[in-house]
Amino acid sequence: MAGRLDGTVALVTGASSGIGEATALALAAEGAAVAVAARRKDRLEALAQKIEGDGGRAFVRETDVTDEGSAAAAVDATVEELGRLDVVINNAGLMLLGPIVGADTAEWTRMVELNVLGLMYVTAAALPHLLRAAEDGPRQVSDLVNVSSVAGRVARSGSGAYNATKWAVNAFSEALRQEVTERHLRVTLVEPGAVSTELAGHNRPEVLSSLRSSLGDIQRMEADDIADAITYVVTRPRHVALNEVLIRPTQQVR
Ligand SMILES: NC(=O)c1ccc[n+]([C@@H]2O[C@H](COP(=O)([O-])OP(=O)(O)OC[C@H]3O[C@@H](n4cnc5c(N)ncnc54)[C@H](OP(=O)(O)O)[C@@H]3O)[C@@H](O)[C@H]2O)c1
Repeated sequence: MAGRLDGTVALVTGASSGIGEATALALAAEGAAVAVAARRKDRLEALAQKIEGDGGRAFVRETDVTDEGSAAAAVDATVEELGRLDVVINNAGLMLLGPIVGADTAEWTRMVELNVLGLMYVTAAALPHLLRAAEDGPRQVSDLVNVSSVAGRVARSGSGAYNATKWAVNAFSEALRQEVTERHLRVTLVEPGAVSTELAGHNRPEVLSSLRSSLGDIQRMEADDIADAITYVVTRPRHVALNEVLIRPTQQVR
């Protein structure tokens, strides 16, 4: 059966786990050749094997997107290896929660470097290729999907620095959307609520327990639910652009 992304190339950052891994699989299932980037190469290789075992094409690129050279090299290597670039999923991210008062500012630095600057470095390197793909691609349109969060829309006590990084992603994305949308490069913000992944596990134990009690015993979304939304975004007809997708577990109130 023909895939809706046949003939296209996608790059997914943070593809070694969670939403990125699920999205790489989903885009490959639609026929995209997929470059998977993150730091854990063993996880990327296992993912690439799965994609190839299912009949798809994958390219593994060990990447630290906080290093501008590494981010740009991942984009260049994708184009060199797979021939073009039609879809970029800026997904790599880190959520270190806790009060602003008394915070360890090293945690802020890590989040700003990854969630904001890493995403911006990948975007800068990818833009010329995405703009070209919108002109000469099989679909005559290209996609940049930035994975933000409900935390980019709703600020919450105990989440200030993470909120600030995702707010930055939202502002950067909307400004870029206005710059490039007339050239058929669609820029989409995807803003998930609670998803069951490794993300929260990087927090200190006291932060984890307050996160659990604030969300309560609701059923979280799965990474596949977000991959499904991203696949929907990048398979719209050329004249339709989803600018923003806010997606929560049904029982998540804020
Ligand atoms: N889970 C949720 O509830 C939720 C809700 C809203 C938004 N989000 C957003 O969704 C995105 C994905 O998160 P997730 O939930 O799937 O969590 P995850 O499983 O922890 O995935 C994070 C990914 O980012 C990668 N990464 C971390 N540092 C990196 C670096 N320096 N360079 C390249 N890649 C790096 C990790 O791979 P390596 O460690 O191998 O590098 C991993 O693949 C994040 O932007 C997050 O903010 C998640």
